Amino acid sequence: MATSLPLPTTSLPTPEEPTTPYKQYAYAYPHQKAYRLGTDRPLLSEVWAGERLDALSLYLHIPFCEMRCGFCNLFTRTGAPHEITSAYLDTLARQARATREALEANGNPHFTLAAFGGGTPTYLTADELTRLCDICEHTMGADLKAVPWSVETSPATATADRIAVLAERGATRLSIGVQSFLDEEARAAARPQKRAEVEAALGRLKDAAFPILNIDLIYGITGQNERTFQMSLDAALAWEPEEIYLYPLYVRPLTGLMARHNTNNTQWDQQRLQLYHFGRQHLLAAGCRQTSMRVFSRIGSPAADHANDHNISEYNQQAGMVGLGAGARSFTTNLHYTTDYAVAIPEVRRIIDHYIATPTEEFQHAQWSYPMNEDERRRMFVLGTLLETSGLPIERYRQQFGSLPQEDFPTEFALITERGWVQHDQTALRLTREGMAWADAIGPLFFSPQVHHAMTTYQHR
Ligand SMILES: C[S@@+](CC[C@H](N)C(=O)[O-])C[C@H]1O[C@@H](n2cnc3c(N)ncnc32)[C@H](O)[C@@H]1O
Ligand code: SF4
Repeated sequence: MATSLPLPTTSLPTPEEPTTPYKQYAYAYPHQKAYRLGTDRPLLSEVWAGERLDALSLYLHIPFCEMRCGFCNLFTRTGAPHEITSAYLDTLARQARATREALEANGNPHFTLAAFGGGTPTYLTADELTRLCDICEHTMGADLKAVPWSVETSPATATADRIAVLAERGATRLSIGVQSFLDEEARAAARPQKRAEVEAALGRLKDAAFPILNIDLIYGITGQNERTFQMSLDAALAWEPEEIYLYPLYVRPLTGLMARHNTNNTQWDQQRLQLYHFGRQHLLAAGCRQTSMRVFSRIGSPAADHANDHNISEYNQQAGMVGLGAGARSFTTNLHYTTDYAVAIPEVRRIIDHYIATPTEEFQHAQWSYPMNEDERRRMFVLGTLLETSGLPIERYRQQFGSLPQEDFPTEFALITERGWVQHDQTALRLTREGMAWADAIGPLFFSPQVHHAMTTYQHR
């Protein structure tokens, strides 16, 4: 199963000393910008050969939203008419059949986790969501009544009829993007929404009593300060969500905010760093625990504790992942693959139209991909564990790779040790309080030169 590519004993080139804490959110390494359209597009039945199929996770990407928020660089289009969403689901069903066949060629696939992400999956109507659940269950064979599964939603689309479908089908986690409870901050982030709409959506989600409710907030918005951030934090806490995600604002190419934002602003870094420490402290004092730079969960909430055991967060799934839909990623031991994706509006539309027009035979093949070797798997392991508060388990790493992480990445660990960002104990390498604040700068230190190169030569579109 594992390739026999040469193992690096040192990592070159020497990592650059980070000057900003906000370089890159390093989830699901390697980043999709490192993927390339393959000339030999291997059959999925071969890509999945030899993989463990007994604990797969299923990810369905729904690239639709009501509006395009100014900060958002996710792969999504706004205002898609019913003909498009309906044709998209037809295609998703075809892709699901082709994928299921490829998995079955290698054994008996069994899903233990699922997620609908986007975009905004609840842009789909209640009937369309029913269809999506049917594809998961009837075509992919995922038992939605038995596994934890998560759905992303937004205030405007978390309507009673959609929530009823998700509750009835057994969703265990609903994650809603609020960003800020202050209308003027939402406006400054180019996310037009009203607090009344947000509170009403939260009320409906709370009534449905999903085991886990997550609220996303953003810090670093123009005009935001400790006082206004606290207002959002307290407004979120008042709903007693099992989880709160605190995202530092990033302003990325081709987004609405890019044109009017100075992204090289050290004051902005200071604002984000200050608000991070403030927000973290506020949530800890309110009875939350931190599991990574962005993720906080309520202590004593059994569902949230259980979710962490199962890595339910859609940003934490690193292997055995089957992605369906335009832009959804799949991870096997030797290959990470996806269909095309983009940020710019015309490109997004073209790619979704192309996805809908894709002949079913093409879904039997991996399209855009990044090959994983032993070196990349070590990096993926480091990134998937070091940036969590539980830390990098040294013995598990040694058992898997036959070496110690500090031996494989001496310069990287020397650098972060020198900066006081990591502590070693008998069992784990753990980020310090300050290290966690710099997690988005630490992550990229562990990207391979090949991934760095592929990401920097990626054509933004
Ligand atoms: C798929 S969206 C959430 C669901 C839904 N579409 C919504 O916006 O309500 C995932 C989350 O990522 C965060 N996010 C997206 N782009 C971001 C950016 N540029 N900077 C900071 N956070 C960002 C937001 O908090 C957002 O809620
Ligand atoms: S933040 Fe959510 S609603 Fe806004 S554009 Fe991104 S995915 Fe869509």
